[in-house]
Amino acid sequence: MKTAFITGATDGIGKATARKLLSEGWKVVIIGRNPARCESTVTELKAVTRNSEISAIVADLSILNEAGKASDKFLQGNKSLDFLMLNANAIANDRTITTEGFEQNFALGYLSRALMIKKLEDVLKTTPDSHILAVVGLDTVRLDFDDLAINNNFTGRKALGRWQWSMNVFTREFSSGKTIPLNLYMPGLVKTKILANEPQPMRAFVKLMNYLVGISVEQSAENVFNVMNDIVANKRSGACYSWKKERSFPKVEMKPDDQKRLWDLTERLVKPYLQVHRL
Ligand SMILES: NC(=O)c1ccc[n+]([C@@H]2O[C@H](COP(=O)([O-])OP(=O)(O)OC[C@H]3O[C@@H](n4cnc5c(N)ncnc54)[C@H](OP(=O)(O)O)[C@@H]3O)[C@@H](O)[C@H]2O)c1
Repeated sequence: MKTAFITGATDGIGKATARKLLSEGWKVVIIGRNPARCESTVTELKAVTRNSEISAIVADLSILNEAGKASDKFLQGNKSLDFLMLNANAIANDRTITTEGFEQNFALGYLSRALMIKKLEDVLKTTPDSHILAVVGLDTVRLDFDDLAINNNFTGRKALGRWQWSMNVFTREFSSGKTIPLNLYMPGLVKTKILANEPQPMRAFVKLMNYLVGISVEQSAENVFNVMNDIVANKRSGACYSWKKERSFPKVEMKPDDQKRLWDLTERLVKPYLQVHRL
């Protein structure tokens, strides 16, 4: 039985993908930040898919220590990992510094994902045809290496663009030297709650666009499933997918040493959270 580990699967694209994989006979482990939502998601997905191979780990992934613990909990209960879907996100439009000292969007969207990749690297390596999909949006803003916490002119869109830029650049660097396929996935506009708290007039625009061209979470999960099959069949890595097809990488603003600089920064920032937790 194949095993998937999906972050942010108590709602939206993550939950719909968990449902799709369960109905295809997979075992699925999800992460959510809210215990009650985790429990109700497990109960609901067991009932609708008639597959009881689903469990949840509660973790707030904007806290690296919790992302590390959640990875260790997964490793304690699972000997293989076929598919890691790095999907969780919530756009913080107010500037928040986490208890660990990171800007919240950067911690959730980028640092916890990089940490989970490192923690789960070994089990992925030993599982044939395993791969990682990092879910992102199209917008990118080059990281200001001298102002990681966005002390200057913070906006939620800038914070979102920065972590998505980092995930883009990390994917290129990781794929250049590693054996585990890591690909980016852009779902398109999907009717979920994620953009519901955008400041106006963006909120009204998103509502209109969702009505006109937004796709359902069920359609989105079908797209993810197609992409997963394409990645395994064609052994793709370091590629970018949108909807159900591969597309070219979006243009990102990059200075010559950015890839290496981001890599070194990431190693330094996640290192304190790599210890193994005995749970
Ligand atoms: N929807 C779109 O049009 C669209 C477009 C481009 C990219 N994306 C990307 O697609 C991914 C999925 O988004 P979605 O639209 O499905 O959003 P969603 O419906 O809001 O689902 C997000 C999931 O992430 C979880 N989550 C949020 N913050 C978390 C945290 N700190 N720790 C752990 N889990 C957390 C949420 O938990 P709760 O249930 O507790 O909120 C929820 O399960 C995101 O990475 C998003 O940026 C979406």
